[in-house]
Amino acid sequence: MPITTGSDGITPREGWSSRSAFVLAAVGAAVGLGNLVRFPAEAANNGGGAFVLFYIACILLIGLPVLLSETLIGRHGQASAVESVKRMAAESRASQWWGGIAGLGVVSAFMILAFYCVIGGWVLYYIGLFAADIAQSGVTGGALTNMTAEEIKALFPNLQQDGFTMSVLDVIFVAVTLMFVARGVSGGIEKASVWLMPAFFVLLLGITVYGAFTGAFSEAIAYLFTFDASKLTGPVMLAAVGQAFFSLSLGVAGMITYGSYVGRDVNLAKTSTTIAFADTSVALIAGLCIFPIVLAAGLSSDGGLGLMFDTLPHAFQSMPFGTLIGLAFFIMVGFAALTSSISLMEVPTAWAIDKFRMGRALTATIIAVAAALLGVVSAYSFNALSGFHPLGFIPLFSGEGVFSALDSVTSKLLMPIGALLVSIFIGWIAERRLVDNENGLSGGLHRFWLFLVRWLCPLALTGILIVGIFPGLLPN
Ligand code: PHE
Repeated sequence: MPITTGSDGITPREGWSSRSAFVLAAVGAAVGLGNLVRFPAEAANNGGGAFVLFYIACILLIGLPVLLSETLIGRHGQASAVESVKRMAAESRASQWWGGIAGLGVVSAFMILAFYCVIGGWVLYYIGLFAADIAQSGVTGGALTNMTAEEIKALFPNLQQDGFTMSVLDVIFVAVTLMFVARGVSGGIEKASVWLMPAFFVLLLGITVYGAFTGAFSEAIAYLFTFDASKLTGPVMLAAVGQAFFSLSLGVAGMITYGSYVGRDVNLAKTSTTIAFADTSVALIAGLCIFPIVLAAGLSSDGGLGLMFDTLPHAFQSMPFGTLIGLAFFIMVGFAALTSSISLMEVPTAWAIDKFRMGRALTATIIAVAAALLGVVSAYSFNALSGFHPLGFIPLFSGEGVFSALDSVTSKLLMPIGALLVSIFIGWIAERRLVDNENGLSGGLHRFWLFLVRWLCPLALTGILIVGIFPGLLPN
């Protein structure tokens, strides 16, 4: 438990109750829809093995160094993300404007929270669907047996047409997230991860092993790990870096915030490595969980949100015990999504508590209401508001409704910019003494990390931003 005081300078500041509580919470933040929905979909869209191996390289060379930088800033500052960056800037005699890095992160986290909870709502819908199916037809057969293939295919498009149902489910998901965030760091956020993450791992491994015996496991391995260098094109590399950031929750001040609750005795290099390792393993296992099921059912493994919300329900239909597996699967996805949405809500909440000195429960409620409102607008952007393109005047975002604009602005712009600024701040601006004392590295590893943060991360991220904004620059 960090022995520092809160924003009033008197009451002790909240913190994780132990090192492992921090690791579980950070793994909970990192492991989410990004691993389970986005990773398999991106791998399918980008040619399997080439994407996967390049993704792993991105995690090691760009993701991990930035993750260590973010937790380091937070742990050093022992305050909300903006305040933590400002403190380190002040001690390095640098401008207070650097606090803007985290300010940007607070805005991005809020934007992601809004559309993330809409997807969380979809997960609730499928949990309800499979639970009702069990009540009707028991657990031994396949799932949704009294539906035709066309009816299953229509489920997801129909849900997306139903703005009201999506809004209600979104509000429920936001409310559940709020319940944990309002209870505080060790009392709520940590509890969610300590209970939900082990349950998540048991479900993931159980379903994967079941899929390995009943599904097309060797085909899935070949699909995910056969490296074909000719498939490693510019856009594939870009997709891999973007996925690495989203998956590790970087560039949105989330890991700065979680790092600020860490005690001085924790070795940040070790914990960051554990977090990155766990997150990457879950993404790979998710691939090995989903593709055998999909390939065995003879369905195409094309990416997109349809992989989880359309192809998988189909696949569960022809699987023995499909209803049970389907229900377990969506509960597992729900757990992972919840621990991530909690971290997303915590970022603006911690900032507002520091800034306005209000109580946690009230602050979190205000943020939750605002996120739910933006979520409802996003839900209607698939139907009634589909003609409303808030950023239509920017070519990069033309034609995108609120939901997809929130996703694009954060993943193509704000997250890479946030991570770029973090690496410049830690690599070049912060005083070496502060960084060296805090990072838990020594000797050659320390020098290598510094090289990555100073050179590789800023250059790679600038490149990604340029080709992300001007996609025409890259050959396909
Ligand atoms: N990393 C989370 C996931 O994979 C998403 C997330 C992004 C969470 C940014 C917090 C901050 O689903």
